[in-house]
Amino acid sequence: MFDAEAFVNEEVKRIRDTIRGKAIIACSGGVDSTVAAALVSKAIGDRLLTVYVDNGFMRKGETREVEDLFKRVGMNYLLVDASDDFFSAMIGIIDPEEKRKIIGNQFIRIFEREAKKYGASYLVQGTIAPDWIESGDGTRGKIKTHHNVGGIPDDMDLELIEPLRDLYKDEVRMIARYLGVEVAERQPFPGPALAVRIIGEVNRESVAIVREACAIVEEEMERAAKAGTMILPWQYFAVLLPSQTVGVRDSARAYGRTIAVRAVESIDGMDAAYSKIPHEILDRISTRITDELNDSINRVVYDITNKPPATIEYE
Ligand code: XMP
Repeated sequence: MFDAEAFVNEEVKRIRDTIRGKAIIACSGGVDSTVAAALVSKAIGDRLLTVYVDNGFMRKGETREVEDLFKRVGMNYLLVDASDDFFSAMIGIIDPEEKRKIIGNQFIRIFEREAKKYGASYLVQGTIAPDWIESGDGTRGKIKTHHNVGGIPDDMDLELIEPLRDLYKDEVRMIARYLGVEVAERQPFPGPALAVRIIGEVNRESVAIVREACAIVEEEMERAAKAGTMILPWQYFAVLLPSQTVGVRDSARAYGRTIAVRAVESIDGMDAAYSKIPHEILDRISTRITDELNDSINRVVYDITNKPPATIEYE
């Protein structure tokens, strides 16, 4: 059984012995990076600057919620709006691995710049075991390059510190509960954010569609879970597919795009089973998506694939 208290005590000591001077942490407000921030700030206090990068691909209202969280926790933080840079870097990029590497690389260049301004020589990341296992570690094949692994350039001039590197998601949640970090029960969200939930080119229009569809999936499932009509899945979201199909709108032919709804049960993200969502909830989600996004979406499908053979995200 994983002992969160022992892990925290040992890690705080190790971090104190390792980090001389200042450090910055790349924090998305998700479970892993927020726990890493709490752990490192326990060790070195205000010598840690928490940097949140808005890449333009975040969920609806997320940047504001994350800032509120940082304020409540009393973190020494900085918000960087880099959405223009990220959107420019995504023009014409279709290949999922290329997308992931470009995003990871953009993040690192921003962290290098901010670290220089702050006088930090260490970069802390909330990388966990599945991130580097799935990215391929030399002994295993690559499944996908996680943004915090494959985007790191060889010439990065910061020393990398990854205190959660050997842990799985369920263990990170145990540490979050032990430290009283309120993100413990948040669903996982990938570092490349909505960019990997758009199959095809990521641009302001495709992000706006998938952002709204994800918000509808979250609202409806969370509402149903609160009302006791279903149990909240481990992870639940929408994906924008590239295919167009024929539909009918106002009695006329419409040629629209498709949203796939995905919800899975998992313990650590390494395997997953699709969630058996009650049909009436799927029905409400489908109706809302096709009503509220009726300019672009005329079809909604529910993904009934497990991992393996699929993965949780689509890219
Ligand atoms: P997959 O799609 O590989 O995802 O089955 C497993 C879990 O990891 C999340 N995920 C990521 N998290 N950076 C992250 O921090 C990434 O690049 C990344 N890609 C996937 C995914 O949401 C799921 O919870």
